[in-house]
Parts: sequence; C-alpha cells; structure tokens
Amino acid sequence: MTSITIDEKKCLKDGICVAECPGRLLQMETGESCPSPTPDFEEYCLQCGHCVAVCPASALSLEWLGPDDCTPMARNLRVTPEQAEQFLTGRRSIRTYKNKTVAKPILEKLLEIAGAAPSAKNQQPWHWIVVQEPHEVRRLASMVIDWMRGVIEVAPEMAAERGLTRVVAAWDNGEERICRGAPHIIIAHGDKDWGFGSEDCTLAISLLDQYATSLGLGCCWGGYFYSAVNAHRPLFEDLGLPDHHKAYGAVMLGYPKFRYRRIPLRNPPQVTWK
Ligand SMILES: Cc1cc2nc3c(=O)[nH]c(=O)nc-3n(C[C@H](O)[C@H](O)[C@H](O)COP(=O)(O)O)c2cc1C
Repeated sequence: MTSITIDEKKCLKDGICVAECPGRLLQMETGESCPSPTPDFEEYCLQCGHCVAVCPASALSLEWLGPDDCTPMARNLRVTPEQAEQFLTGRRSIRTYKNKTVAKPILEKLLEIAGAAPSAKNQQPWHWIVVQEPHEVRRLASMVIDWMRGVIEVAPEMAAERGLTRVVAAWDNGEERICRGAPHIIIAHGDKDWGFGSEDCTLAISLLDQYATSLGLGCCWGGYFYSAVNAHRPLFEDLGLPDHHKAYGAVMLGYPKFRYRRIPLRNPPQVTWK
C-alpha cells in the first residue's frame, strides 16, 4: 500500500510518469491536467519507484520515496560499450582464492547492489545467508560431502554422472571442490512456492557477481552447495532456512589468487531469426 503526491507547481504535464507506470496506475484527464492516481493505485502499485525516478521535474513523491531519496544518475559514470563488453565477457568463475577475508562493509555493499536486480512483480524475494568465517565455509562444505556420500551409496550411477564421485574422491585426497577454499559463501533463498524465485535470485546473484568483479573480488556459483542445501536436511537446518524456503543459488566469494589475461571463446549464439 502506498500513496502518491504530485506537486502541481512543478509538474510539466509531459505524461512521462503516465507512460512509464508499469501498472498504468497514473492517468491524465486532459493534455493540460496534472496526472492523478487511478482508484486502484494503492492496490496495484508495485513500489518500483519508476514514477519518482523518471520525472524530469522532481514533481512526484511516494509515501516511501521522494526525489531526494534517490541517487541521481551521473552522466560522467556512463560506461562505454567497449568497457561494458570487456567487463561482461571478462568476468570469470574464480576457483582459487587468496587467504584473505572480505570486510563486512564490502559484503553489505554487494548485497545492496544485488538488490537492484529486476524481479517479477518487483517482489525482491531474495533472502541472504552470508558465511563470514572461512572455517565455517569449510565445515559446511564437509556437510555437502556427507550428502554426496549418501547419494553415492543409494544411486552410484547418478552420482558418478553428476560428478559427485570425483568430488568426494578429491575431498578424501585433501582437495576441497565444493567451495574451492573460498573464504565466504553467500546463499540466496526465498519462499519455495514463489514461481519466479529461481529467476529473481539468479539475477540478484549475477549482479552481485559482476559488482564483486568490479571490486577486484571473484565469485563462483556453488551448484553443488545449494543443491545440497535443498536435499540434505541437516545442512538446511544448520543454515537456519525457514521451512517454507528453499535455496535458489549460492556463490563462493573471495579475492582471486590469479589474474585472467584473456577472454575465452564462447559458442556462437544458437538462434532462430524470424
Ligand atoms: C547454476 C550454476 C552452477 C554452478 N556450479 C558450480 C560448482 O558447483 N562448482 C564450480 O566450480 N563451478 C560451478 N559453476 C560455474 C560454471 O562451471 C562456469 O560458469 C562455467 O564453466 C563458465 O565459466 P565462467 O563463469 O568463468 O565464464 C556453476 C555455474 C552455474 C551457472
């Protein structure tokens, strides 16, 4: 529930907010009138803040968001296509980390940036668990190995096919391939019945990963890790996920030990042009 204030003295009557409202919840009676909320505004407002963010005259305020609460878009911070291309294609999954933890303010900033991801109906459904201590990461990785051993016992062929047998053999040989020795792991979880939980959390993790790269940090998706959270009750409970939640993704995080010099080739797009 939210209400909107439109400053008639500032309003340019340009209709931009009307055009940009995702729910079409702003209307203009005539070309010369100020926009006003539709009767169902409060019921359907997604609280996306677009009306406030797009108004060139700073004429709109929501109960929870005024123009001065928003960070201005700085023209000098626009990235060029060349910068964007190298940044986006040069991100790598990092699997060798320095023996150095990430300071809490940086972890907090990563989550703030992750929260800027798009989400269905602007639900922002992600919840986070940030494991701050490297020894805890290792202990949780050992729980993933426990789960893998159980899977190998009951379904050895499937375990081999999914690489679990090799990962457990490596563990027994002293090599940790679950969290790759990263000092941190970050888990995204949310309501298990939310139909877009997977997409929303994946997008948030992806922003976190990219922003981490800009800070000289590195990430790698922990596919084994979050599969185990959902499949292995002791790990689920150890992490303290609520019963009606599931893990939608996890990333290891730390300072990369090595610098990548080149961008590997990817498959050409598999596309049908219509
Ligand atoms: C859903 C998902 C799960 C993944 N799980 C793991 C994992 O458990 N361990 C790992 O080392 N890498 C994992 N990865 C990383 C992929 O192997 C990696 O993205 C891929 O090889 C391409 O490399 P790049 O990310 O450096 O471009 C995962 C990636 C995704 C998207």
